[in-house]
Amino acid sequence: MSHPLFDLTGRVALVTGASRGLGFAMAEALAKAGASVVLNARNKAELDAAAKKLGGEALPFDVTDEAACVAAVADIAKRRGRLDILVSNAGSNIRAPLLEYKTADFDTTIGQHLRAGFVLGREAAKVMTKASKGRIIYTTSLTAHLGRPSIVAYTAAKTALEGMIRQMAVELAPSGVLVNGIAPGYFLTELNRPLIDNKEFNSMIIRRTPLGRWGDPAELGGACLLLASDAGSFLTGQTLVVDGGMSVSL
Ligand SMILES: NC(=O)c1ccc[n+]([C@@H]2O[C@H](COP(=O)([O-])OP(=O)(O)OC[C@H]3O[C@@H](n4cnc5c(N)ncnc54)[C@H](OP(=O)(O)O)[C@@H]3O)[C@@H](O)[C@H]2O)c1
Repeated sequence: MSHPLFDLTGRVALVTGASRGLGFAMAEALAKAGASVVLNARNKAELDAAAKKLGGEALPFDVTDEAACVAAVADIAKRRGRLDILVSNAGSNIRAPLLEYKTADFDTTIGQHLRAGFVLGREAAKVMTKASKGRIIYTTSLTAHLGRPSIVAYTAAKTALEGMIRQMAVELAPSGVLVNGIAPGYFLTELNRPLIDNKEFNSMIIRRTPLGRWGDPAELGGACLLLASDAGSFLTGQTLVVDGGMSVSL
């Protein structure tokens, strides 16, 4: 049995980008704490398999499709009668040097992370404010705090998300809705495949991270659980950095 502060029995969570990687790990942590989890991603086959592993529900849609986001949240609220937790996590990264960075790729990246996060957060907040409670959690990034080459749009989107978290937290606090972020450092997921396969980058991560390794996606589950549960009842507007100490080391 889980500690009562972390017990999510009876709560309904939507996790976007949950077919693999960090989203799956966070969905798994919520499910193990008793939540009924709705998993989202675009690829239906991969999503169905992930949902089956967790005993959750698969709800495939593209988070850049506003109408689909609006319909998904309304559908969960109607069928389940509640939405307690939103983890807005879906997204990818288009890497290119700044001088070659295409405006279309900039728009795509901002759309996936920032615009989708805004739309989903707004829709979830409509349901949660009616219930006078709820948790909205965004996956941001260490790169919202520390710059590095070739990811200008990603960094811009993640940094803006952290501003939006503060804004939403202040605006929604009187309605009992808490809004926070998790800023992961470097984790072993598909998103980072080109970096993991790059020997030089890989050794830089190991050298620069005080814990001396990449993060395992499962290691993000605890942070998500804290922000989603009664354990985090006085926490809002914050971004929790989970990076093995990289951001506090010279
Ligand atoms: N891994 C890291 O080290 C790291 C560090 C900092 C931040 N992050 C952030 O963490 C989040 C998850 O990354 P990850 O590393 O777990 O990546 P990942 O393994 O590539 O997983 C990404 C997930 O998002 C889904 N997805 C992508 N675009 C989508 C869209 N438009 N609509 C719906 N679902 C979509 C993917 O499924 P489909 O392709 O089937 O849609 C998949 O389930 C991202 O926001 C990323 O920026 C990751």
